[in-house]
Amino acid sequence: MTGRGLFITFEGAEGVGKSTQIGLAADYLRARGLDVVVTREPGGTPMAESIREVLLAPRTEPVHETTELLLMFAARAQHLHSLIEPSLAAGRWVLCDRFTDATFAYQGGGRGVSVDRIAQLESLVQGALRPDRILLLDAPVEVGLARARHRGELDRFEREAAAFFDRVRQMYLRRAAADPGRYHIIDAAQPLEAVSTDVTDRLRAVISVTGQ
Ligand code: TMP
Repeated sequence: MTGRGLFITFEGAEGVGKSTQIGLAADYLRARGLDVVVTREPGGTPMAESIREVLLAPRTEPVHETTELLLMFAARAQHLHSLIEPSLAAGRWVLCDRFTDATFAYQGGGRGVSVDRIAQLESLVQGALRPDRILLLDAPVEVGLARARHRGELDRFEREAAAFFDRVRQMYLRRAAADPGRYHIIDAAQPLEAVSTDVTDRLRAVISVTGQ
């Protein structure tokens, strides 16, 4: 019988190159015979992608932090139950572009929502499920923002000030420092090839530990 797959998330602030690296990571794992699903948050299912549009759309109406928080977890509940859990149970590896660490970083660090409140919703929505590994792509805020702002139309988050993204980054780094067995910090200010080498080195180590 196939064992359970691994759940690996890619995190980081804007413009750190997560999408590129997640694609390369999937190629690397597939070349080693693993069955891989690539997905993202908020999103990953048709309904969760609709919630993503609601969350990211720039709007003049102020968005209350509780509204934003609940919508993030609503999208996550749908994604988890309809895609992530069944995939892991079927032995597939799930690579997810952001997950609950982003809620701690953006809604907790960025917006100042209490970490305890986020942790309560995490337990409610996820039960005991947590990512097996978190690859944190870390770069100075100015580097990431300069890259993100080159991409064109800015979404509601990308319009935040540099100080917001600095709080996001600090929260990510704090969480990584508290649990070094699960988090790997990758220097995303390096050239793309060097970042990719670091990511594949990490994945190779994960494969050898799991014996797959
Ligand atoms: P993306 O552009 O990396 O796909 O992410 C969309 C935005 O959503 C990004 O600015 C980070 C934000 N976000 C949160 O604020 N909280 C969350 O829990 C997640 C998953 C994303």
